[in-house]
Amino acid sequence: MRAAVRARWGKPEKVVEIDDVSKPKLEDDTVLVRVKAVSVNRADYYMTVAPGILLRPMIGGFLKPKMRQLGTDFAGVVEAVGKSVSGYQPGDEVFGAKTPAFCEFVAARMFVHKPANVSFEEAAAVPVSALTALQALRDHGKLEAGQRVLVNGASGAVGTYAVQVAKALGASTVTAVCSPRNVEQARRLGADRVVDYTKEDFTRSGDRYDVIVDIGGTHPWRHLRRVLTPNGTLVMVGSQRRNNPLIGPLGYIFRTALASRLSKQKATFFIAKFNKPDMETLRELLESGKIKSVIERVYPFPEIADALQYMGEGHARANLVVTF
Ligand SMILES: NC(=O)c1ccc[n+]([C@@H]2O[C@H](COP(=O)([O-])OP(=O)(O)OC[C@H]3O[C@@H](n4cnc5c(N)ncnc54)[C@H](OP(=O)(O)O)[C@@H]3O)[C@@H](O)[C@H]2O)c1
Repeated sequence: MRAAVRARWGKPEKVVEIDDVSKPKLEDDTVLVRVKAVSVNRADYYMTVAPGILLRPMIGGFLKPKMRQLGTDFAGVVEAVGKSVSGYQPGDEVFGAKTPAFCEFVAARMFVHKPANVSFEEAAAVPVSALTALQALRDHGKLEAGQRVLVNGASGAVGTYAVQVAKALGASTVTAVCSPRNVEQARRLGADRVVDYTKEDFTRSGDRYDVIVDIGGTHPWRHLRRVLTPNGTLVMVGSQRRNNPLIGPLGYIFRTALASRLSKQKATFFIAKFNKPDMETLRELLESGKIKSVIERVYPFPEIADALQYMGEGHARANLVVTF
């Protein structure tokens, strides 16, 4: 089967190619899925270029990647069902997460039914980004109905879901921070207020938020805490701007978490974790129309390196999807 592979770290257009690899084997607790669409996450870009040289052993190989294949998010059609899997049959449409996923078939454990009102492309965009948004707000921000939320980086993959999930969880107001070309999109997704970061610094607004989901990582803690309520929480999801060539965003994350220990306001970082109940929650949110996937570009599979390259430029509008 065809798969996107890379044998060394480097820019996607230089190192990513399509190769023939063996089809995964069906195991008792998996379903074999013919992949229809995958989405390209920022993590896939990082798994290609390996920024932060000292982090390379953590992401899989110091000198070169140990695993050649890439990808996590997929949507497709079940071809075969393992003996111990119940509730699924060949022909079912599913979406989920499996590493590697940038290939024609996956044998997956983490998947749920795709709602009929959602396309394969829209479903493939969901797993990593929407799960991150859900866990950031509900589990780490401990968002309660009626609270005020700000999403910094509201136009990217995680951010577009974070705006919608905050509304679905009952936030009283959601403020979205993004670039001018994405202001209208943020409003359409339900943001009550949109800050164009090229015109206004949200940390000087005088407003206060119970939960800040920081996907941009653009401001230091001493500025962010000005706009947190006295018991508010900053949830650090990622960092676009504060990446160090040796340790990526880790320095910024540790500094922020440490500084916040002296204060009642909290700063926390997390790595999203897949689990079936949360995948079911996302399926329900999609089915009910409470969240929708925004897709900027759809690429045919042979052009997957272009999708990774565009993701790396840092201003993709929400999701990039690749179809087979
Ligand atoms: N912790 C976790 O488990 C987890 C999971 C998923 C992702 N992440 C991390 O989260 C980050 C974002 O991921 P993503 O998939 O959403 O990436 P993305 O789709 O590339 O989105 C990033 C967004 O940041 C915005 N941005 C750039 N400069 C900005 C600024 N100065 N102020 C505010 N926003 C700015 C861009 O929007 P404009 O074009 O409007 O500027 C872009 O849409 C990455 O660092 C990723 O590694 C972490």
